[in-house]
Formats: sequence, structure tokens, C-alpha cells
Amino acid sequence: MAKTTKMFKLLLVILVCSVSLNLVFVFKIVNVLGGGDHHYSLELSWTKRDAAEAEYVAAISCSGHGSAYMDGLILDQDGNKEPVCECNACYGGPRCSQFLPSCAADANGGDPYFLEPFWMENAASSGVLVAGWHRMGYSLNFKPFMVMSKELESHIRELHALVGNAVTEGKYIVFGVGSTQLLNAAVHALSPQNSSSPARVVASFPYYPLSKQQTEYFNAVGYKFEGDASLWKNKSDAATMNLIELVTSPNNPDGQLKWAQLQGPNVKAIYDRVYYWPHFTAISAPADEDIMLFSISKLTGHAGTRFGWAVVKDESVFKRMSTYVFLNTQGVSRESQLRALQLIKVVLEEGGKPIFDFGYTTMSNRWKS
Ligand SMILES: Cc1ncc(COP(=O)(O)O)c(C=O)c1O
Repeated sequence: MAKTTKMFKLLLVILVCSVSLNLVFVFKIVNVLGGGDHHYSLELSWTKRDAAEAEYVAAISCSGHGSAYMDGLILDQDGNKEPVCECNACYGGPRCSQFLPSCAADANGGDPYFLEPFWMENAASSGVLVAGWHRMGYSLNFKPFMVMSKELESHIRELHALVGNAVTEGKYIVFGVGSTQLLNAAVHALSPQNSSSPARVVASFPYYPLSKQQTEYFNAVGYKFEGDASLWKNKSDAATMNLIELVTSPNNPDGQLKWAQLQGPNVKAIYDRVYYWPHFTAISAPADEDIMLFSISKLTGHAGTRFGWAVVKDESVFKRMSTYVFLNTQGVSRESQLRALQLIKVVLEEGGKPIFDFGYTTMSNRWKS
């Protein structure tokens, strides 16, 4: 009897070991194929050189006042190409260690470098290696006019659902070369196609200057910039005119949460929501306007990636905006889309807490100091 029990125990141990080994094996395969927690266990080959170069350049110290970049190589005295430090405006010298006391602060514009330390801390999850043959064609999946990554679109929808800052269900998404391109795409889409009277484009003062500059610059027959929205509130002929109100909320330059000033059957609003993220403002409710613009420039700080998106309710507006982007630039660079996808994946980690906490704390510390 004792012998049978011993045998049974031994068999049980063997069974448990075998099941565990199989589980480990299956887990490894899943990871290699792209599932799991992304600890890929492939032996690296063609990426090794690029990875080593990226780490070599990233390791160059610029005293915390600049960075060296892989496309910022210059010839040194011996004729070799070496990556150099590109210093922030108030620092100089080969390693950006010299403070330049006479430097002027630029209060007119802003590059969102305040998030750079966050991305340095998250170097391992946010880097993207682009294969030499990555999406070389004009269209994706060999489908004509398909220029937007479905994967990126679904991550954007997931992001809005997580943050609760915009309703995307039942709405369309258009990608643009930054929200800058989408701003004009939206103005174009809302303007009358065959009308002798152009749409009047207005914005309530103080407004983001590019709204005016861009609308005037394109000087299209379908629309023209007409200044401060509040001046149109009590105009009797405003009721019969096509009016497009640009609403930036939170606003640049004053951070106010703004609402459209003008109402009426011929009034349409474009909401620039690029700052409607938890590191800039409290998110009281998901925004649900007919046209809302967002941008990776303000969400993650990657203004140089030139990636933005519009959430659009109306199908005909969506189609006109998509045609605008297609004819203007044939969509957004596939490399930018790939990078935006990777960055948004990092934002989604831990429910967005790490990046939004970092952004909020950094800005409130700067405000206090
Ligand atoms: C209110 C507002 N909208 C749009 C933009 C431009 O964003 P993007 O980089 O997506 O073109 C800016 C940039 O500063 C902005 O302040």
C-alpha cells in the first residue's frame, strides 16, 4: 500500500513538472509572437547595430541642458562624424555646461520639452526602431486611399475612453500633420462649396494667433477671417451668414475653458481641444462637440512628430476633411504614425497615471518657483 502511494506521488510530481514545462514553453512562444508582456526572447540580428548606435548617442552627456541626436552629426576637427550636443537656448559649449546670462526667454511660443525627462525615464518602452522597408507605399495594406493605421486609431479611441476627455463612439477620426493641418481641413470642410458668399471665420479674443494667420494665408474663396466672435453676436445679418467659430478650449494663451459664442442654424464650431488633457486642466466631462482637434504635440510633448487627429461627428465633414488631408499630403507620414502609436501605448500604461502625474507635477512646480 505504502509502495503504491509513493509511486502515485512520484507520478504526480512528474505530471506537475511536465505541465509546468509545457506552460513555460507555450508562454515563451506567445511572447516571441508578440503577445504577453513583451519580453521578446528572440536573438537580435539586424537591429543590433542600430540599437547600439541609438544607445551610444543617447549616452552622450549634455549636462542636462541639451541632447545629442542621431541625425545631428557634424564633422569634428579630424574629419570624423561625431554626434554633438544641441544645447537649450540659455546654454552653450561642447557639453552645454556654460550658462549664457544674456539669453532672452522666448515667451511667444513653446516647445513642450517639459515632458522630455519623462521620455528619458521611459526610454525602454517608448523607443521605435524603423525597419528600412517599413510601410514604403503611398497606401496601407495595398488598399488605395488607405492612409491611416487602424491600430493607431483604435488606441486613440481607447485613450479617450480611459481619460474621459472626449466621446469617440459613433464618430469618425481623421489623422493630420499636426492639428495645424486639421484646423484648415475643418475650415475647408465646413465652408460652402458652391457659394458666392464665403464663410466668415471668427474666434473669440484672445485667440491662438495661428487660427487667424492660417485662415488668411490660405486666402480661399470659400472662407475669410473676420476677427473677434463677440463682434458678430448682435449683428442682424449674422443670422443669414455662414459663420465658422474657432473655439480653443482650454484656450491658448489664457487657459480658459471656452464655449462657442455664436449660435444659429448657419453657425458651426470647430473645437481645438489640444490642451484638454489631465496635465493641463481638470477633465470635468467628456467633450462631445461635432469637430474636436487633438495633438500628440500637447499630449506627449512630441511636437516634432507632427501628428494630430480630429474626432468628427458628421460623415460628410469627415469625408471632406479626409480628402483635404489626402490631396494636401497624402496622409500623415507612416513613421510618425508608428511613433505616435508607441507613445500612446506608453501613455495608456497604468491608466495614464505616470505621464499625467509627471506633467502636472512638473508644471505646478514651475508655476510655484
Ligand atoms: C491651441 C493650439 N492649437 C494647435 C496647436 C498646434 O498643434 P500641432 O503641433 O498639433 O500642429 C497649438 C500649438 O501650440 C496650440 O497652442
